[in-house]
Amino acid sequence: MIKKIDVTDLKPRMFIHDINCPWIDHPFLRDSFLVESVRDIEKIAAYGIRQVYIDTERGPDMPHAPTVHEVHRQLDDHLQHLGRTLKRAPPPPVGVEKERVKAKQICREAGRIVQNILLDCRLGKQVELEQVEPVVSDIVDSIFRNPDAIVSLLRIKQADKYTFQHSVAVGTLLISFCRAMEIERKTIELVGLGGLLHDIGKMQVPNNILNKPGKLTESEFEIMKNHVRYGCLTLEKTPGMSTIALNVAAEHHECYDGSGYPRGLKGDEISLYGQMASVVDVYDALTSTRIYHVGIEPTEVLRKLLEWGNHHFKLTLVHQFIRTIGIYPVGTLVRLDSGYLAVVVEQHHENLLHPRVRAIFNSRSRSYMPPRDYDLSSPGCHDRIASFEVPSRWGIDPGRYL
Ligand SMILES: [Fe+2]
Repeated sequence: MIKKIDVTDLKPRMFIHDINCPWIDHPFLRDSFLVESVRDIEKIAAYGIRQVYIDTERGPDMPHAPTVHEVHRQLDDHLQHLGRTLKRAPPPPVGVEKERVKAKQICREAGRIVQNILLDCRLGKQVELEQVEPVVSDIVDSIFRNPDAIVSLLRIKQADKYTFQHSVAVGTLLISFCRAMEIERKTIELVGLGGLLHDIGKMQVPNNILNKPGKLTESEFEIMKNHVRYGCLTLEKTPGMSTIALNVAAEHHECYDGSGYPRGLKGDEISLYGQMASVVDVYDALTSTRIYHVGIEPTEVLRKLLEWGNHHFKLTLVHQFIRTIGIYPVGTLVRLDSGYLAVVVEQHHENLLHPRVRAIFNSRSRSYMPPRDYDLSSPGCHDRIASFEVPSRWGIDPGRYL
């Protein structure tokens, strides 16, 4: 049985099923391993990990610890409660389908510009703000027209372009997050700029570590951590760089409980924008597929963000992020009570549990159907989302139906 226990209750010979750590680059080579010594436990604690999942069939049990199902049930109840109580901003002025056409172009252009800036940085060139500012402004415009259009395009990443596409995703998600928090436009642009450039210091990390097709060793992880300091040095010498953008880059790996890096800042010692960047960075990293990590479904990642709220992140900020992208973010494959599998195509502005969906597959007859849209919030629609689904289990690519 899989159970969740505090790291303080961990004993040698227990078998860790999941280290329960938000950083996918962490140096534990496998998520599942046998705890061999007290030294192992000290190392786990030193990485700021508070709770882990153990497999009681492969090592000693903790009789009163909750099972993974109990933990998930509680987190799902929390998500459903948020879905019933959180309201989004007023309806967007432009429809999601119409905006997606422009958003695709903006996203491509953003990827190209960020790639150029980051590669130039590797050659020792200075960042030119006039190159990146128009792109930030285009992303902000798109999100103000319809926040669901561009956000649905961010999950797809190519292995050789991961750092650039992750940078665009973090910048874009941060802009959407700021808009949902009703932050003024000028500030949104600075936060977005910081998001696009937050990992610029990775260009000074040796390529064999940056693009290693596997998890990092402890010493490689220490080298990788330097990317934050390298990034700050680059951005500090950029003429006209704002403190807000700098804070996003400087603080995106800090944690609310002080267990992050490079400075180990705690609570509100981390700026609001730094805290927002840390939530968004983890969300995008976990939902993305990489060589050694299969992307986790967005709703499952939201569940993890809630689980890590209050130690790794500030819980109320996680709530605000969920309000930004919904309980079932656009592009999520869901199963309806009717048995239809559907792709979420647009959030409802005040009902996060009942988005607009496109039914594509009948799970009872196991056959495709002509795509049909349902507005789950409309009074005449009695179908409801029963659960989210893992697309690969059904051989479905939800992106094809957006
Ligand atoms: Fe980073």
